[in-house]
Amino acid sequence: MDLDEVLGAVQQRFRPYIHSFPEFSRLPRKGVAQSEVLSLLRQLQSSEGMRWKKGFVSGAVYHGERVHTGFAARAYSLTSQSNPLHPDVWPSLVKMEGEIVAMTAHLLQGGPNTRGAVTSGGTESILLAMKAYRDWAREKKGITEPEVVLPMSAHVAFDKACHYFGLRARIVPLGPDYAADVEAVKEAITPNTVAVVGSAPCFPYGVVDDIRSMSEIAHDHGVGFHCDACLGGFILPWARPLGYSVPPFDFELPGVTSISVDPHKYGYTPKGTSVILYSNAELLHKQYYVAKRWPGGIYFSTSMAGSRPGGLVAAAWATLLSLGEAGYRQLARKIFQTAERIRRGIAQRPGVKMMGDSRIVAAFTTESPDIYQVMERMSERGWFLNGLQNPPGVHLAVTLRQTPRPVTQRFLSDLDWALERARNSPTASGLAPIYGMAEALPEEAVGEFFESVIDWIYHGS
Ligand SMILES: Cc1ncc(COP(=O)(O)O)c(C=O)c1O
Repeated sequence: MDLDEVLGAVQQRFRPYIHSFPEFSRLPRKGVAQSEVLSLLRQLQSSEGMRWKKGFVSGAVYHGERVHTGFAARAYSLTSQSNPLHPDVWPSLVKMEGEIVAMTAHLLQGGPNTRGAVTSGGTESILLAMKAYRDWAREKKGITEPEVVLPMSAHVAFDKACHYFGLRARIVPLGPDYAADVEAVKEAITPNTVAVVGSAPCFPYGVVDDIRSMSEIAHDHGVGFHCDACLGGFILPWARPLGYSVPPFDFELPGVTSISVDPHKYGYTPKGTSVILYSNAELLHKQYYVAKRWPGGIYFSTSMAGSRPGGLVAAAWATLLSLGEAGYRQLARKIFQTAERIRRGIAQRPGVKMMGDSRIVAAFTTESPDIYQVMERMSERGWFLNGLQNPPGVHLAVTLRQTPRPVTQRFLSDLDWALERARNSPTASGLAPIYGMAEALPEEAVGEFFESVIDWIYHGS
């Protein structure tokens, strides 16, 4: 398959959908009636809704039940005009943000010195932490060529942070258990290291790194340790009370100096809320921005954005309060049980190999047939799984959408069908060849290739 064919396949996936609804390439001359706009919105979303509501999508929508989302939407609508950039106008948002940070810090065993801020998502929390470590190390240690020790499985947001903020990533391999290789972490630390990163758990495999050992190494070298608990921060705290083993990963460990954690994943809030926590105020100050002489007046911000949606703060605050500890524990139990069931079922399929141990993610690969062929056949059955690469694999991040038993059964029977089809009639369409192609291309060409893919998705050429 050549580049044009791959781009053609991408176009085929998005264009028919876009063209099957009225198109607006300029402002309508006269406003469209609100009822008509809402009806169009419903139509636009209806087929998408069927995918995630029925549990066909890995991760992405963590709760999604109607009464729950309706409640958060009501909280949003009460506060949709508010903006945390103006704390004097909306002191209620100062209270709510402070309480979101405090509740999250308590959940992750923070102490009296723990400080934090609300951000727009895991990526922003990670970007801010990496900037804070860079600036802290420049000021305190005079480090001008900062480096970060990153396990292969760390979220791509860390690589993005390196790209944006001029940090060098020292990538370390994983062990056979798909957790960061602790010895390699030790060896990767240099006098320029500003922080070591570990995940609880990592996105690709759902595996929790050995945060205890890694944070001790960082502490011994006098560098920061960031635990990325974006995915696990709101669910793993319930594992031990429910009888599941999970290694320690939070502020219980004295070497952990910052944690990113996402209410908009297993915290079940609407999308657009994350929390970044630090073990002390000094680090937090390195992410603040204060304008000193701007003619527009006194200006400061706690995160990267200027204006921010106060409605999302209120919706997140309302969600945390309404679920409470008992609510989170109950939902965590359902997810742990479902993930266990799905993982056991996958592991029983011949030729399939699990990638790492996890409480919430089922990552697997195949000796034969090709795993991307299996993924493509699963997508023909309606599934949106996440493709993995280096090495090839696929994963399902289990959410509440998969907890009804018929969804698990459907997943496993579709997997049988997909394995059989992939074995007997490999396909040349869909995402399988894109993954294959990306792996075959030299690294520099991959960037250019995906710039074209992005253009085709959003601009059609
Ligand atoms: C472990 C981990 N870290 C960071 C992120 C980034 O979060 P976001 O997509 O909210 O920016 C994710 C997203 O899935 C994740 O799984």
